[in-house]
Order: sequence, then structure tokens, then C-alpha cells
Amino acid sequence: MRAGRTKPNKWLTAQELHAHLNTSFSMSFLEELVSQTQDEHGISVNDLHLTESQPLDQGFAIFSKLHKIFRTEESIYLLTRSVIKEFAEDNVKYLELRSTPKEIPETGLTRDVYMQTMVRAVHDCEKEGLDITVRLLVSIDRRHGVEIAKIAVDLAERWMKSTKGLVLGIDFSGDPKVGDATDFIPVFLDAAERGLKLALHLEEIPLHEETKNVLRACCGHCTIRIGHGTYLHRYEPNEGHEEIEDLVVKWKIPVEACVTSNLLSKTVDRPGTHHFWYWRSKQHPVILCTDGKGVFGCLLSDEYSKVAKEFSLGREYLVNYALSTFDTIFECDEVKQRLKDNLKQFSEKEQIAFPS
Ligand code: IMP
Ligand code: ZN
Repeated sequence: MRAGRTKPNKWLTAQELHAHLNTSFSMSFLEELVSQTQDEHGISVNDLHLTESQPLDQGFAIFSKLHKIFRTEESIYLLTRSVIKEFAEDNVKYLELRSTPKEIPETGLTRDVYMQTMVRAVHDCEKEGLDITVRLLVSIDRRHGVEIAKIAVDLAERWMKSTKGLVLGIDFSGDPKVGDATDFIPVFLDAAERGLKLALHLEEIPLHEETKNVLRACCGHCTIRIGHGTYLHRYEPNEGHEEIEDLVVKWKIPVEACVTSNLLSKTVDRPGTHHFWYWRSKQHPVILCTDGKGVFGCLLSDEYSKVAKEFSLGREYLVNYALSTFDTIFECDEVKQRLKDNLKQFSEKEQIAFPS
């Protein structure tokens, strides 16, 4: 995100459902934090975001550097607060923020302290009166294997209970080239049984077999959204992968579409071929998200502008689209309705700006 950038009006955004904490910093926040701690890690701020398209691996190299910066309770607290505040400034009314709880003995960080710190930051934003509802997802990094994933589910359940639903689900993410999502199916089913919702990165790159296995096992038993889903519909005919799309459609599984992230990671070649439009054309739920607004240098309102321009979407279309996306949040019907009513009122008062 461009440092110090402001927008003159409130822009249409509605809600953000796919944001990783450690990759969602703003450059101004990062510059301040890094200037205080530079000697310790020797990392330059300019190394921490993608300015042009790079293969997916490059993004994962950046994520590792970020984990050297956000290592203390204090930095996680400051990061969480600043990310929430920046989404609120971009007119986001509902945010599901996800992160992988870290265990760093040198700084005293434990997974439990990590969760406690994020929850404290959310509560402090509420006390400050920010106009945004925040919920948290505990991330499972597929690189860390099934045993750590089980620990994440225990942690998520405990924090879901103690926060009365502020923590409400699990994210499954990490380098898609590592491991097999199939191995995690028992963990997903167990999480769902305990009342946790599932946001699963699937098909960020073509991985039809694991996707088919996960969907076959989980559809009907779990509340699922799919992160990216870039290759969900790009099966080879006659290889039986049509089943994947059939399951996604049958169970109406929402797809979290991260346009800028996919373009910069080169998993999609240009905006016009992004699967956002494939699913919209089928009237299938698809939600615009940032993924990591720091690493990918995008605001959520930029994502709305980008598709509005690319697919010539007008004001009425965008408002109806934004309202419909509230149906895909992991909250209850009452919260969905409140968010819809507020956005409707807001848009009727013409307080929202649209791309021209
Ligand atoms: P954190 O969980 O708050 O530390 O956020 C960074 C982590 O999110 C990375 O280390 C990855 O595990 C995950 N992540 C971020 N972006 C992506 C993505 O595009 N694909 C898969 N995993 C991702
Ligand atoms: Zn992601």
C-alpha cells in the first residue's frame, strides 16, 4: 500500500474475508517498526512487497522475512491494531483476520500469547469505537504438518469458547507445493465437529487430486469457503475433475478471489481472465479480498475498482454485489442482516464513491 495515501471519499468495500495478518501491514507502519528494530534483522522495507509480477515462490520468500520482523508480543499487538484501523479507514465494515500462531522461545511468544495478543488488539479497537466488526481465524500452515494442525484446532476451539465466538474458524494455508491437503482431512472434520468454520486455500496452483479428496470428504459436514480457487474450474476434460466444480456449485461454496495477489504471483495472467468473473457469471458466490494488502500493495477498494473497470460494472451492480457478499461471512444471520442494512443505508445516502 502506498505510504500516506488517503482517499477523499468513503469507497465501497463492505467486508474483507481473506487477509493474513503478517502480510497485511501498511508501508508506513512497517517503516516505523523496522526503523526501530533494523539492527536486529537487517531487512529493508523495500524487500517486503511485490512491485511487479513474480512467481509464487517469491511471495513465500517475503513471508519468511516478515516472520523475522513480527516476533514479539508487542509487534503482533501493534500490527493487529494497525491492520484493523487501516481496513476501517478503507470503509471495511466486517473483517475476518487470519494468522498462524507462532511459538518463539527467544521472545517469550507462545501460541497462546499470540492469540491473546490478537484478541486484546481487537478488543482495544472496539473500545476505541472503530466502525468495524472483527473476527479471527487460526491459520494452519500446511508446511508444519498434521500434528501442529491439531494443536491449532485445539487452540482455536479454546479461544472460540473463551471469546464467545470472536475466534470462529480455521484457515488452511502455506506453500501449496508442500505437502498434501488430503492428509489434513481428519483435522478439518474434527474442527468442524467442534463448531469451527473452515477457510481453505485450495487450487492456488493446479492440485486437483487433493481438492477432490477434500471436497468429497468435507462437503455436507463442514462450513467451507475456498481461498483463491484459481484452478478450480480449469480441469482437463475427461479426467474426471468436473466433479470438483460440480461439488463447489452443489454446495454453493464461496470462493475468495484475490485479484491483485493472483496477478502479482503470476497464477493469473491478466484481470480479464480472472476467475472472479467466471464465478460471477454463474451467479456463484465469489468475494473480492486482498490476501496481504502490504505484500501485494492493494487496498480492498482498489480491488473493487479494478473489477469495476475491467468488467464495466456500474453503481447498482456493485452495491448489489457487495450486499450479497455478506451472505458468505462466518457469522450468524443476525449479524449478516445488520451489515446489509447498514450498507444499504450508507449507499442510499450516496456517501460511497465509485470508480468513474
Ligand atoms: P501469518 O499467518 O499472519 O504469519 O501470515 C503469513 C502466512 O500466511 C504465510 O507464512 C503463509 O503461510 C500464509 N499465506 C499468505 N499468503 C498466502 C498465499 O497466497 N497462499 C498460501 N499461504 C499464504
Ligand atoms: Zn491467502
